[in-house]
Amino acid sequence: MSHNFQSDPDGADGSPMRLEAMNETHLNTVVQIEASVFANPWRQRDFEFSLGRDGSHCLVAWIGDRLIGYTVGFFISYEYHLADFAIHPDFQEQGLGRQLLDLLLAGLDIEKTHMISLEVRVSNQQAIALYKKRDFQTLAIRKGYYSRPKEDALVMVKPLKGSLSDWVEQALNLPSENR
Ligand SMILES: CC(C)(COP(=O)(O)OP(=O)(O)OC[C@H]1O[C@@H](n2cnc3c(N)ncnc32)[C@H](O)[C@@H]1OP(=O)(O)O)[C@@H](O)C(=O)NCCC(=O)NCCS
Repeated sequence: MSHNFQSDPDGADGSPMRLEAMNETHLNTVVQIEASVFANPWRQRDFEFSLGRDGSHCLVAWIGDRLIGYTVGFFISYEYHLADFAIHPDFQEQGLGRQLLDLLLAGLDIEKTHMISLEVRVSNQQAIALYKKRDFQTLAIRKGYYSRPKEDALVMVKPLKGSLSDWVEQALNLPSENR
């Protein structure tokens, strides 16, 4: 899968957003952004673990020479699970979160990835609004999923190929030993 592509239209400072596969050299900045946007942030070791996981697909977004955001996720069978996603506070509300999400989606091969899924705090109205704009649907509420502070999660999904019911049917048709 190609990771080096650019967005159109231009990013906030007039330069296009450029994506790159996340690696260990990015983690200082990624951890700083993470700590500035989340109440219960991931630590460096969480990102290191994510980079080493099977099916890992993690990106960083650049505007010029500034690393301004990132996505962390995993391919699991026909699904891509978006586990973490943030834009640096100085760059929020300028359309860059939407650009990063759109570039992530555009880079997925829908023949191999039929569904994207994520969890989001029920209070995170910015993120929920963005996901709804990109046609994510709420599949379930996971009670008490988050800690510090304890909070429910919305499980949101977006079918990339076929419909939500196609995907559920396919999941239910897994061989019984895989259920
Ligand atoms: C969620 C996040 C990635 C959005 O990035 P962003 O660059 O600020 O978002 P954008 O400027 O691209 O806005 C995209 C849409 O998000 C929604 N949005 C963004 N800021 C919002 C706000 N303050 N209030 C309500 N909706 C908001 C809107 O629907 C907006 O679309 P619009 O501009 O057409 O109204 C960013 O707020 C962030 O990093 N938050 C902290 C980390 C986080 O919560 N990550 C998601 C975890 S599931």
